[in-house]
Amino acid sequence: MEQTQASAPGKIILFGEHAVVYGQPAIAAPVTQVRATVTIANSEPAGVRLIAPDLGKAYWLTEAQEHDPLARAVRLVEEATGSTLSQMTVTVRSTIPIASGLGSGAATAAALIRALTRHLSRQDLASDEQVCALAYEVEKIHHGTPSGIDNTVVAYEQPVYFVRQEPKNLIEPFAIAAPLHLLIADTGVRSATRHVVGDVRRQWQAERARFEEMFAACGRIAQAARTALEAGDVMELGALMDENQQWLEAMTVSSAELEKLIATARTAGALGAKLSGAGRGGNMIALVTPETQTSVRQALIKAGAFDVFASTVE
Ligand code: MEV
Repeated sequence: MEQTQASAPGKIILFGEHAVVYGQPAIAAPVTQVRATVTIANSEPAGVRLIAPDLGKAYWLTEAQEHDPLARAVRLVEEATGSTLSQMTVTVRSTIPIASGLGSGAATAAALIRALTRHLSRQDLASDEQVCALAYEVEKIHHGTPSGIDNTVVAYEQPVYFVRQEPKNLIEPFAIAAPLHLLIADTGVRSATRHVVGDVRRQWQAERARFEEMFAACGRIAQAARTALEAGDVMELGALMDENQQWLEAMTVSSAELEKLIATARTAGALGAKLSGAGRGGNMIALVTPETQTSVRQALIKAGAFDVFASTVE
């Protein structure tokens, strides 16, 4: 049976979540330990069968609900290739926790689009740039005004400096000077990006000047962080993470659970810590060194982290 597989990593936002929706620079990095993997296989029956074994779901494309992200991704590939797909099974597996800020939706979309375009021998549509553009259309289902940073970092699978802008987003994959040792700790609280982003928008509409000042401050932090990443200055990066967290708290996207883990990590020796992604739950990240990694990890587990894993960004 002819089959094609592609995968995409999870992601973390290192600096600038939320502010990035309003045109400020932000930095994201892939998390390669967790991945979404999509397999496309030719099959006998007419139609496209969508299967997500981890979620216990199997359905036909024609039966999919209006806002089903898998169906949307398949339809986008149909549109891009000018074809109607049939006799195909699309199987989606993912080790990326859902609604935790690790980009599971973006990674699934990117893996599906890459697998399907390759399966159809449309290498021209399987490039990072094309996969990124189509996955962005799927992201709109997850929330109405995505900045595009999540689909970009999972499609390029490299640290990326990103600015949402017209007519074309600024996407600068860049090299960092020294590996960044991070711990990613899950609060265990699920949080829908759509709700948090919508809530920030309502607050911005009510208090534009104050929110725009906060967004601009986060933008300046992201710019300084890029310089520090390119210079390998981890002390500076830790301080910038702490500063970014303060602004995220002021935007009301933090939570008691996140702040408990952030404070724990700092006390246990992390150089800096912040929430990552939409917030109000999901994951926090702590910058550690090979020497402090074990003790910070143990402290996070003791403080009630649902899950903690180490990730090195290089
Ligand atoms: C989510 O990973 C990052 C947010 O800034 C939303 C977005 O950029 O679309 C919260």
